Amino acid sequence: MEPRRASRQRAPQLPQPRGELSAALLAALPGDDGVRLPTDQVPRADPFGEDLQLALYVLYELHYAGFAGVQDEREWDPDLLGLRRALEQRFLHGLRADVAGPAGVEEALSALLTEPVKPPADSVSHHLERDGELWQLREYAALRSLYHLKEADPHAWVIPRLRGRAKAAMVAIEYDEFGAGRAERIHARLFAELMADLGLETDYGHYLDAAPAEALATVNLMSLLGLHRAHRGALVGHFAAVEVTSSPGSRRLANALRRTGAGPAAQRFYDEHVEADAVHEQVVRRDVIGGLLDAEPALEPDVAFGIHATGYLEDRLGVRLLSAWRQQRSALRTPLQAARRAEEAEESG
Ligand SMILES: [Fe+2]
Ligand SMILES: [Fe+2]
Repeated sequence: MEPRRASRQRAPQLPQPRGELSAALLAALPGDDGVRLPTDQVPRADPFGEDLQLALYVLYELHYAGFAGVQDEREWDPDLLGLRRALEQRFLHGLRADVAGPAGVEEALSALLTEPVKPPADSVSHHLERDGELWQLREYAALRSLYHLKEADPHAWVIPRLRGRAKAAMVAIEYDEFGAGRAERIHARLFAELMADLGLETDYGHYLDAAPAEALATVNLMSLLGLHRAHRGALVGHFAAVEVTSSPGSRRLANALRRTGAGPAAQRFYDEHVEADAVHEQVVRRDVIGGLLDAEPALEPDVAFGIHATGYLEDRLGVRLLSAWRQQRSALRTPLQAARRAEEAEESG
């Protein structure tokens, strides 16, 4: 099914606030005059909480698609950047306190690469493959749309910060992610088609209000690492973690979609990633990480941190999803069923 063409051009709506920080930010964004930003309150905020993660997400979106009613120039508003910096420091502080693992990249990657003999209790893709129901796959796709509708964009920011072999390999992988010269093959476009097959809205940013903090944090991590040259090592680690885990995870998700009777476009996205990411995994390990560490060996602990932080936030999201689903509850802040019923009511009334 083709995603609706006109809807792809619309700027996303600002989300609903989730606390004091996000409320002040969302009040300040449409105007350019003097709503006081609560930057001084950030050090007391929960680094993984709904309020901080939403505020950070909204500020990062100014660098991607922006929002309806917010001037493009506000991307570089010094007060907003000051708030963003405080939020980033709080988030990073939380990550550095909680994330643990070896400082060597090989050890960090091997831990990711070892497919467990028994499915781990907290693996979302194992659950979906084995027992996942269609409503859970719809929720999963809605949440992942926050990243997949801008797939590979956060990683593109690292390109000017790389040289030689690492740059060439990074661009080769990104070229595939961006459709290898063909708009209809852009992975974000394939994901929109998957969403349409699942009866979801394909508008960029549509599910932001529905996404809990655990889902926002996974996307905020890549935006944070992508936007800072100082974190280029961790960004490469993040990218490697995604590529290395993608092929087996995608195989399970393709199986889950097949088993639950989702349409062909829904399966195509994950089938594509089983193939492509088996190659990307090799290139990212040998040339992106290998090239970066040949040129800048001191970055190894940063690369490892990027790998561990990715795993840590994915695990938090997995716990959130599986604990809700095991009780047959929605893992979203706004269940999809309710949204769908409202639309149907609109159509029939
Ligand atoms: Fe991809
Ligand atoms: Fe890939």
